[in-house]
Amino acid sequence: MQVVSEVGLILFCTHIRVVVAIALIVTAGATNAQVAAYKVVDDGIPQALTTASGDIARGRALVANRYQSMCLLCHQAPIAEEKFQGDISTNLAGAGARWSAAQLRLRIVDARRINPQSVMPAYHRIEGLNRVAKTSVGKPIFDAQQVEDVVAYLVSLR
Ligand code: HEC
Repeated sequence: MQVVSEVGLILFCTHIRVVVAIALIVTAGATNAQVAAYKVVDDGIPQALTTASGDIARGRALVANRYQSMCLLCHQAPIAEEKFQGDISTNLAGAGARWSAAQLRLRIVDARRINPQSVMPAYHRIEGLNRVAKTSVGKPIFDAQQVEDVVAYLVSLR
C-alpha cells in the first residue's frame, strides 16, 4: 500500500511539474516578436538563425534561469549553483557530444518536429500552439539570438 501511494505521488508530482512548466511557458514572452525563417534538413537546422554567432555565457545564463527558459524544470545541467534540477528528461551534460549544432537547434526551435508527443516546449514557434496567454500570442519564448546562445552553450557541453 505504501509503495502504491509513493508511486502515485511521484507520478502526480511529475504531472504537476509538466503542468507548471507549460503554464510558465505560456506566460513567458520573448522581447522579439519575430520568428526567423529556417529550413529543416533531416533532423536538424544546419543554418544559424542569426548572423551574429551564439554566446556560450549568455546561453548558460538562459538555461540556468528557470523562469525564462524552464530547462531546469525538466532537465539537469552541469550548473552546480542551481539546486533542484529536473529529472523528467535527460541530463544536458554531454549534449554537445551527443548531437550536432544543427540537431540541437531544431530541438530548441521546435522539439515536436522530432517527437510529436514531446512535452518539451517549442522555443521559437508561434503557430499551432495550444493555450497561449493573450499577451504572448505572436511571441516566441526565445528570439533568434537566444536560440543561438543556447545552442552555443549546449554545443560546448562535451
Ligand atoms: C517540459 C519539460 C521540458 C523542458 C522545459 C525542456 N525540455 Fe528538453 N527535453 C524534454 C524531453 C521530455 C526530452 C526528450 C525528448 C522528447 O521527448 O522530445 C527533451 C530533450 C532535450 C534534448 C535532447 C536530449 C539530450 O539531452 O541529449 C536537449 C538537448 C534538450 N531537451 C534541451 C533543452 C533545453 C536547452 C531546454 C531549455 C531551453 C529544454 N530542453 C527544456 C523536456 C523538456
